[in-house]
Amino acid sequence: MTSKHIPYKTYLTEDQMPSQWMNLRAAMKEQHDPFLHPGTLQPLGLEDLTPVFCEELCRQELDTTTLMVDIPEPVQAFYRMYRPSPLVRAYELEKKLGTPAKIYFKFEGNNTSGSHKLNAAAAMAYYAKAQGLTSLTTETGAGQWGTALSTACAHFGLNLDVYMVKISYEQKPFRKAVMETFGAGITPSPSTTTQVGQAILAKTPDTNGSLGCAISEAIEASMRSDQSRYALGSVLNQVLLHQSIIGLETKLAMDQLEEYPDVVVGCAGGGSNLGGLITPYMKERLEGKSLTRFVAVEPASCPSLTRGRYAYDFCDTGRITPLAKMYTLGSDFMPAPNHAGGLRYHGMSPVLSKLYHDGEMEAVSVTQTKAFEAAVLFARTEQILPAPESAHAIYGAIQEALACKESGEAKTILFGLTGTGYFDMKAYQQYNEGTMTDYIPSDEDLQQGFDGLPQVDSTLRDAAGCC
Ligand SMILES: Cc1ncc(COP(=O)(O)O)c(C=O)c1O
Repeated sequence: MTSKHIPYKTYLTEDQMPSQWMNLRAAMKEQHDPFLHPGTLQPLGLEDLTPVFCEELCRQELDTTTLMVDIPEPVQAFYRMYRPSPLVRAYELEKKLGTPAKIYFKFEGNNTSGSHKLNAAAAMAYYAKAQGLTSLTTETGAGQWGTALSTACAHFGLNLDVYMVKISYEQKPFRKAVMETFGAGITPSPSTTTQVGQAILAKTPDTNGSLGCAISEAIEASMRSDQSRYALGSVLNQVLLHQSIIGLETKLAMDQLEEYPDVVVGCAGGGSNLGGLITPYMKERLEGKSLTRFVAVEPASCPSLTRGRYAYDFCDTGRITPLAKMYTLGSDFMPAPNHAGGLRYHGMSPVLSKLYHDGEMEAVSVTQTKAFEAAVLFARTEQILPAPESAHAIYGAIQEALACKESGEAKTILFGLTGTGYFDMKAYQQYNEGTMTDYIPSDEDLQQGFDGLPQVDSTLRDAAGCC
């Protein structure tokens, strides 16, 4: 019997690119608990969201029924500048590991922003322009989201103000230069330019900042003008919807190859790349058509799924956002300055949190030195220098492949390679010199974050007259 030939890289043609996104919520039997208004603790309505986000994005955020959503033609045209992205068979990695498993990865790093973040940025900038707005504000951790939104805002003709987590601002000066090249204004967060920033600095003057702080500042800044809205690059349902382009392209390509993943692995910061990658496959699992496993990989320094609480919490540190029911370390939790800046977020997408809580997904955590060990092995075999965030997915995929080596099973493993790490050379330098350290929070450290969780569940129970 001759086995079928699988190429190193499978590219769809531009004509084959999906013209619709897929809304995973419409495939879920049970929805995640609703977002709550931070003042009234009542479920959020459209009118609560529209002062913060563009109108169409608010509709998408609350839509639990529309499975397929048309991608506006200008967004499709933008996608065609850098998509379809390749599905790669990691032959060299397989060989090095000596595994019978087949390893595939979907590579999202082939654009200037260097990551998958451009998929959602394009949609957000388009909807803002279509609504007649002049500007957006946002936060950025590692810098990929800020870069992506700068690129999209330059294309659609919008101003952009980016609040960049202070530690990343200091570690990655060239990220700032890229964003400025695309016309964005960058402020290190926490800053003295917002009330929230001033309050955080008064409490913790030496803070490295966090995504939670930067979100608070960006929202406050956007509220100063009715021509401006805030854009968030992860966590939200709308972002998972836009990132479903990753999974839809992957499934089309794998179907062409007559392949189906036994396990899908992705790194999880706020959950957008993983949510997007798994969407069409999770739909089939929820419909009882497959038993594919889904594995989220997170940093041991910021373990929201593996050690967090499933509770209502604020999405930001300044406590001005709506409350989301999610796996969280508490919005006061200040993650250690791990190099995977995009994974240093205290919470997790409510959709992924619900799926994890219901046993439809698994999660593991890894220290940064182990993640970099995987990154270096991957770079030397597959010739792509991965982003530190993506290294977490590589680590997870390698663990699955080594388990196959042990059991002799030839499973099909798919993982998301979300981006490249060329702005993370300080981190690689530390790893290569042997000076990289690991930080794993103690139970006491985590308890401090949990102590700050809002007492929402009991309040709601009391309001409903339950015991
Ligand atoms: C390259 C890369 N991968 C992954 C992530 C994690 O984000 P998410 O969980 O939303 O995909 C980030 C976030 O900045 C990133 O830049």
